[in-house]
Amino acid sequence: MGEFFVSNHPLIQNKMAMLRNKNTCTKEFKEIISEVAMLLCYEATRHIELVPAKVETPIAEADVNVINRGFAIVPILRAGMGMLDGLLTLMPTAKVGFIGLYRDPETLKPVEYYCKLPNGIENMEVFVTDPMLATGGTAVAGIDFIKEKGAKKITFLCILAAPDGVKKLREAHPDVDIYAAAYDEKLNDHGYIVPGLGDAGDRIFGTK
Ligand code: URA
Repeated sequence: MGEFFVSNHPLIQNKMAMLRNKNTCTKEFKEIISEVAMLLCYEATRHIELVPAKVETPIAEADVNVINRGFAIVPILRAGMGMLDGLLTLMPTAKVGFIGLYRDPETLKPVEYYCKLPNGIENMEVFVTDPMLATGGTAVAGIDFIKEKGAKKITFLCILAAPDGVKKLREAHPDVDIYAAAYDEKLNDHGYIVPGLGDAGDRIFGTK
């Protein structure tokens, strides 16, 4: 079973207080989402495998350890885009893919409207971003598409997770690690996380 990691880092908790505050403006909100994503990425990459190598320092040859596998970052559109810069800060050579999903009003099932993933994703370690793991429907569908393209090692990064979303994602994709900055109590009748931080996409892009 994949890991479900909820951060207890003081820097993340302090930033979560600012994200939750309804008076935090769009500019600050966007910057803080990016910072929290970067800090979570630091946690989520702790287990990455290293291989021994040698480099020449100005003085002598040194034994070093390096990462020699490719990374892909796949934001789920549109709110997942808010986390992209934070991850790219720590993994600047990562390839970036995008998945867009909407909910069919009749079947209520997520339908893919855009999917562009990097070539060779099957050999990469993939980090999927979506700030809110609420019902879990989008995360499960997004990861379904990424697995269909052959990806094997997938980590899901979110800012806030709710019990329903974590349960659904872990049932559908037990091999996927989940990293969250905070874990909230429940969803309300509209599917919003409580106490949450509101509509992440609207707050990142200033659309409300
Ligand atoms: N999506 C959001 O943006 N916010 C929630 O609380 C739940 C889903």
